[in-house]
Parts: sequence; C-alpha cells; structure tokens
Amino acid sequence: MNDANNKTGVSLVVRGLRKSFDGQEVLKGVDFEVKPGEIFVIMGPSGSGKSVLLKHLIGLEMPDAGEILINGEPVTSPEIAAKFRMALVFQSGALLNSLTVGENVGLYLAEHRLKSPDEIQKIVAEKLADVGLKDVMDKTPDELSGGMKKRAAIARALVIEPQLILYDEPTSELDPLSSVVIGEEILHLNQRTGVTSLLVSHDRDLAFGVADRIAVIAEGKILIIGTPDEVKKFNDPLVQKFLHADFKREPEPKNL
Ligand SMILES: Nc1ncnc2c1ncn2[C@@H]1O[C@H](COP(=O)(O)OP(=O)(O)O)[C@@H](O)[C@H]1O
Ligand SMILES: [Mg+2]
Repeated sequence: MNDANNKTGVSLVVRGLRKSFDGQEVLKGVDFEVKPGEIFVIMGPSGSGKSVLLKHLIGLEMPDAGEILINGEPVTSPEIAAKFRMALVFQSGALLNSLTVGENVGLYLAEHRLKSPDEIQKIVAEKLADVGLKDVMDKTPDELSGGMKKRAAIARALVIEPQLILYDEPTSELDPLSSVVIGEEILHLNQRTGVTSLLVSHDRDLAFGVADRIAVIAEGKILIIGTPDEVKKFNDPLVQKFLHADFKREPEPKNL
C-alpha cells in the first residue's frame, strides 16, 4: 500500500448494494470499504456477482438499493461521478484490432481532443513504458501475446491518470507465468502512483499475491473481509471450499 501522503487514490465505500435481474437476486446486500491507495481484491467463483458489482461502480448498472461513495460523496449523478477519474481494465483487454497498440492506448485522448497528436504520442509512449511495453506502439493487438495485451489494456487505462482502477479478472486467459507478471504490474503501479486498486477475480494466486485485503464473495454475499492471512485462517466451510478447491481423481476403474 502507498503511504498516506500520496493523495492520488480515492476511497470507495459500497453500502447495502442490492440488485436483481428478472426476480433473481444477484447482489444481496454487499458492503465493503476500500482505503485510498489500497489494493482490494474481491475473490469468488464464477457467477457470484463480481462483474455486476463493477458495473455498478462505473455506472453501467443502477442499484435496486444501497449506495456507492467515492471520497465520501455518493456517486448518484454523472456530474459527481465525473469529478473522479476511474478506469476499468476489462476481462478481455478489449483492444481494437483495426488500430495500432499506440492508437488504442491514446484513443480516449484523441477522441475527446484532449491533447495534440504529438502530446498523445508522448503520453502513449510513457504509459506503455510504465507497464514494461516498449517498441510495440506500431504493432496491432493481434501481434501481441496474451500478457502483453493485458499490459496494453492497463496502459490504456493509465492515460487518464486514474484515482481508482477497477480490474475485472485481469489474469483470465493467461498462463501462470504471465499472470504473475500482470500481478507484479498491478503492484508496481499501485506503489508508484498511489492509485486505489479494486480487482475482482477468481484467481486465488493473484488475490493472495497482490491484495492488501481480500473480500470473499459467494452468491452475491460477502462472506469475509480481511488480510490474506485472516482470510486463509477463516474457518468457514464455503470460504475454505473455495480456497482449497482442487481436482479430485476418480479411483482407477477396475477390470480393464
Ligand atoms: N444483465 C443481466 N441480466 C440478467 N442476469 C444477469 C445480468 N448480468 C449478470 N447476470 C447474472 O448475474 C449473475 C452474476 O454474474 P456476474 O457478475 O457476471 O458473475 P461473475 O462473478 O462471474 O463476474 C449470473 O448468474 C449472471 O447470469
Ligand atoms: Mg465476471
């Protein structure tokens, strides 16, 4: 976690968040707080409501009940939400193959005419270097490895100098080695910029590797929030089952 003097990261509070789709309750009263500069991981199995939760934070879904506060302010209107710089790194990376990597990273600045082409070029180079990607600016995304695509997606998120980065399954589709590299990247960024980082993932290794604190979610309810050590020791059958889920080999068939 970053020191308290660094004011980059915002605080985030989620209180009593509920959401149903077609009568099925997906979020059943979710409460948690993320401190400025913290790396907070919400870990849980597929279908537990993690992406739905993130969609509420970026305003793609509206809650049935509950509230979301950033730096103490309820983000109920686009005007308030616009005061804070929030970036989302999608599950798939979502880079456009018709653009170069550099154009993808600079797209937001270009579209909004926020900087001149020369300035954009400079910022893009800087953000790509920040995530350990050099000399790929003129390549297209399909020329990159899975891990490099994820890093490019993070670089794209960085152009707005975010105060809060949300990562949805940042290591999905990656091999274990590339996953470790992405985890390290998330840690470095957090340490260097003090950005508040919220990850949702079912990747246990990633969660325990990067988190200051972890919340375990199952079926739309948070079961525990604690440090990685506290979560490991938490004596709850559902949490333990998720933490230790592993392959079970069937007994060898007989008479073959
Ligand atoms: N727009 C929607 N309409 C109906 N059901 C949805 C919608 N979005 C998500 N769900 C359901 O909510 C549950 C949680 O989904 P999700 O948040 O994507 O899980 P995950 O934890 O894998 O990210 C799933 O059962 C999913 O089918
Ligand atoms: Mg998801």
